[in-house]
Amino acid sequence: MTADMVRIEGVRKSFGSHEVLRGIDLEVAPSEVVCLLGPSGSGKSTLLRCVNQLESVDAGRIWVGGELMGYRPRRGKLHRLPPRTIDRQRRAIGMVFQQFNLFPHRTVLDNVTMAPCLVDNESVEAARERATVLLERVGLADKLAAYPAMLSGGQQQRVAIARALAMRPKLMLFDEPTSALDPELVGEVLAVMRDLAADGMTMIVVTHEHRFAREVADRVVFLDAGLIVESGHPSDVFDRPSSERARAYFQRAL
Ligand SMILES: Nc1ncnc2c1ncn2[C@@H]1O[C@H](COP(=O)(O)OP(=O)(O)OP(=O)(O)O)[C@@H](O)[C@H]1O
Ligand SMILES: [Mg+2]
Repeated sequence: MTADMVRIEGVRKSFGSHEVLRGIDLEVAPSEVVCLLGPSGSGKSTLLRCVNQLESVDAGRIWVGGELMGYRPRRGKLHRLPPRTIDRQRRAIGMVFQQFNLFPHRTVLDNVTMAPCLVDNESVEAARERATVLLERVGLADKLAAYPAMLSGGQQQRVAIARALAMRPKLMLFDEPTSALDPELVGEVLAVMRDLAADGMTMIVVTHEHRFAREVADRVVFLDAGLIVESGHPSDVFDRPSSERARAYFQRAL
């Protein structure tokens, strides 16, 4: 029904009586990079978690790659998909968090091959070959045999990105991927993300790195209290925000 890679329509989500997402509409085109900004608690993580089904929505619909997430329409009604089907849908979406969550007792190479071998039934040889290429791509060709504890935070996050890419995602979601890093390590992770964007990956990135957003994002979306209050080209949103809320936020953030 749509050529969008992501289509979010009227999404609402509450926790108890707190409505965290209050009607979100957002489309992301293939190869588009959207940076999601907004104050703490505005619903950025919740929105990402709804897109990849870590949270269910209370209202609205989400399509990824043309596929309705989590539900099957039948006779005018939506029916929840079985968990196996939802898992399959989720595998098409790579997610990178602030915390890297690597397996500490597995080597870098094993961390990247584990999911393709276990979940995708890829052969060990094929998975290793691909993982090696991915780890070269994120600049870690010499760390295949290392354990996570031997790596810097920036290196660990690059392993986490390679691990997500190993599942051949059509969409990558990043939730503050550099927020836990020492400042001098932020650049190397952003460089990998920049490279991924240049390579045509569709990405939704929650970040406080405004320079990255300016340079890499095709579009910046500003969320406030569960609503999108600004959406547009980075220079328009940053330099000429139309809402007082975004203006005040960017002024403080500078
Ligand atoms: N599982 C949950 N149960 C209850 N409340 C939740 C849950 N997850 C999030 N919330 C609440 O929803 C609101 C939005 O949270 P969310 O994590 O999406 O915000 P955010 O924009 O990502 O903020 P931050 O910039 O701090 O990461 C917050 O008030 C949060 O406390
Ligand atoms: Mg968050």
